[in-house]
Amino acid sequence: MTRKTLLLGSTGFLGRELLAAFAHAPHVLAPTRDELDVTDSAALREYILAEQPSTIINAVGACGVSKCESNPELAQQLNSGYVQVLADAARMVAGCTLVHFSTLEVYGDVKPQHGQAYYNEDCPTSPHSIYAKTKLQGDLAIASTAPHYLIFRLSSLYDAYRLFAVEERDPISLGAPTAVQYVANTVVRGLARIERRVLKVHSGVYHLSAKGDSDWQTFYREVSLQRQKSRILGTPESPALVTTGPKLSVEKIENAFCLFIPSWQSQLKTHLTQSDLAANGD
Ligand SMILES: NC(=O)c1ccc[n+]([C@@H]2O[C@H](COP(=O)([O-])OP(=O)(O)OC[C@H]3O[C@@H](n4cnc5c(N)ncnc54)[C@H](OP(=O)(O)O)[C@@H]3O)[C@@H](O)[C@H]2O)c1
Repeated sequence: MTRKTLLLGSTGFLGRELLAAFAHAPHVLAPTRDELDVTDSAALREYILAEQPSTIINAVGACGVSKCESNPELAQQLNSGYVQVLADAARMVAGCTLVHFSTLEVYGDVKPQHGQAYYNEDCPTSPHSIYAKTKLQGDLAIASTAPHYLIFRLSSLYDAYRLFAVEERDPISLGAPTAVQYVANTVVRGLARIERRVLKVHSGVYHLSAKGDSDWQTFYREVSLQRQKSRILGTPESPALVTTGPKLSVEKIENAFCLFIPSWQSQLKTHLTQSDLAANGD
């Protein structure tokens, strides 16, 4: 039987990059909202049962603290209610893996257990915002319903446009800004290796963020520094980042997916180099 991937939310910020990462993969279905409104539960169920995908990637969501505070009903619907329907439908397709994206915001400001220096995936959650609360409900719905699932908890994402756009960003409480292309490529390559049986990865929650911790202010300072230095001096050297509280652990995903996750500074440098090359038409 042909293995099919169903990508939901392929027109969104993350979804577009996931679709690009699948460019050469056969059998990827990516219905737009006009073709499949995921809040129509009956249509969603019918579509999934008709197509029988072996993997469903859910990049639909109401994203961001302020957006969710101003429209709590939409947040509840897209981050929680719809996710439960999706998990129920995925369970009805034999062998189907449900891939979902969540947020590190679910930890709130809960401290890791006594003496622990890192937040790992077993740390208790304590979401504060409507965004984080509804995302956690979605995570729990999947974990209790779908037999095979991967939930990636992400930090805030950036791309070339969001590097320079002056827009208000939600504060970062844990992790560091992460390039959206990196997340998409890591997930798509990881899934390909699982499908080829190069990797065997257990269902569960995985942190997926550039290594280290940084707030936006530190991040944007580093953007300016790297851009200046790459013009004047060649290879920039990142300043040491001083953080106090416990840090994010990405050990679980590194071990399970045989990855080495770069620091946010080194990932930013790669991203800037690639953006500069693309802008210069190289
Ligand atoms: N962006 C980040 O920094 C970030 C950080 C952590 C976690 N995440 C998580 O990553 C996921 C994707 O985030 P994102 O930033 O890519 O969100 P986004 O840009 O807002 O994209 C949302 C996607 O969902 C689709 N959608 C919304 N309502 C729909 C409906 N009723 N039927 C069908 N499709 C619908 C949108 O389609 P239209 O194009 O038609 O609107 C769009 O493709 C979310 O679960 C989010 O919580 C994102």
